[in-house]
Amino acid sequence: MLNDTQKKIQAQACELAQRSFAPRAAEIDRTEEYPWDNVELLCEAGFMGMTIPEEYGGLGLGYLDVVVAIEQIASACSTMGRITVEANMGAIGAIMAYGSEAQKKRVAPCVLSGDKPAICITEPEAGSAATEMRTRAEKKDGRYVLNGTKYWITGGGVSKVHLIFARVIEDGEDLGIGGFIYIRGDDKDGFTVGTREPAMGVRGIPETYLHFDNLEIAEDMLVVPPQGLRRGFAGLMNAYNAQRVGAGTVALGIAEGAYETALKYVRERQQFGRPIAEFQGLQWMVADMAVGISAAQALLYKAAANAGDGFPNINEAAQAKILAAETAVSVTNQALQLHGSMGYSRNMPLERRVRDARMFTIAGGTAQILRTQVAAAELGMKLPQTRDGFLKLAERESK
Ligand code: FAD
Ligand code: COA
Repeated sequence: MLNDTQKKIQAQACELAQRSFAPRAAEIDRTEEYPWDNVELLCEAGFMGMTIPEEYGGLGLGYLDVVVAIEQIASACSTMGRITVEANMGAIGAIMAYGSEAQKKRVAPCVLSGDKPAICITEPEAGSAATEMRTRAEKKDGRYVLNGTKYWITGGGVSKVHLIFARVIEDGEDLGIGGFIYIRGDDKDGFTVGTREPAMGVRGIPETYLHFDNLEIAEDMLVVPPQGLRRGFAGLMNAYNAQRVGAGTVALGIAEGAYETALKYVRERQQFGRPIAEFQGLQWMVADMAVGISAAQALLYKAAANAGDGFPNINEAAQAKILAAETAVSVTNQALQLHGSMGYSRNMPLERRVRDARMFTIAGGTAQILRTQVAAAELGMKLPQTRDGFLKLAERESK
């Protein structure tokens, strides 16, 4: 399924990840420090901003090209896998697709020189119900003034580029949800990085609160998808489908790393006078792990390949992320089980991989919300969840 370029990217990513990222993965987990030195290597190797079009200094690669790299990198180190996702998908994808010339020229060099942008959607009162967000961007004297709080923002305190989802208010009227580019360092007043969440896994990237207190953002830093502000959220989430595929790929890489470790162990570990790989009960566990990994990989590659020059489709992205996330949870747990007490020891990478895998059924759209989106697409129905969603649907149906 992979072409020659993709195979080359895969081999290069594997070499870098095994040489430089795998040996540091346990230390990054323990110290919980953002791996700036590894990010420099990622950047030098050209894995940041791969999707940025060539006219803005990137490689103009497609999502499948990126996915094969993420898979290799995440199987060595989950933190580095997530950084690769956010340096190629999500906020940067939305800005490159919908942004103005000036926005693209301002943001591309940041990412190409090592910045992992932050995408700021979730709020304390608006997680799955993201359309209920309260952050307001009020237009005043040719600038937008932002007030609100975001939380669980990946990269809070380390990212420079932020894409902040907020309600756009003009003359007291709510015009819809837009994305505001804020580059940390340009103007610090009104922007505060809040408390870091003590996360269970993938601990090399901070997830924090972000507070906006009369944060002024220039008018020309508003990203509006082509459908307009009224459907701004839909357009921005359409770009976000790529990040869902990327997150699913990190989960896949984590599962693959655990699987490889388990294969080696069951061949070597002897009990009852023979390698434990000879017990049929364990062989069937290995088979189930292999089936899950192959299926998740197939769905992720399909969603990425079908994106073409656009973004992955909502249904394909959701299906792939559900399967990859749930496979990662089960494969990492089975790999731990196959190691017996050694799996439970912090001297082995299995307990870390179990913790790392756990985030993917929650972050970036929970497995339940994604199932709602798959069902809506499969049934050809709109299944809104929020009050706003129901009101919009009722309004449409009454016409
Ligand atoms: P809730 O929405 O409160 O859900 C609680 C439970 O109810 C879940 O099981 C959920 O599936 C279920 N539920 C809710 N509504 C429904 C429904 N209608 N039908 C069925 N079940 C439902 N956000 C960002 O904006 N940027 C980031 O960079 C970011 N990074 C993150 C990194 C990590 C590690 C984590 C854990 C989260 C991150 N998030 C980020 C936030 C993430 O997107 C939210 O956690 C997620 O959308 C779920 O929201 P919630 O946590 O408020 O859960
Ligand atoms: N891709 C493309 N369009 C999407 C989309 C996606 N992933 N998610 C939502 N949309 C569109 C809907 O089709 C709808 O478009 P319409 O106005 O043309 O009908 C619009 O966005 C609003 O969606 P709707 O389902 O009516 O929203 P809702 O008010 O019921 O809220 C969501 C539900 C969308 C917020 C919820 O399903 C969701 O995705 N929550 C998770 C948020 C998340 O992933 N956060 C990650 C932060 S990192």
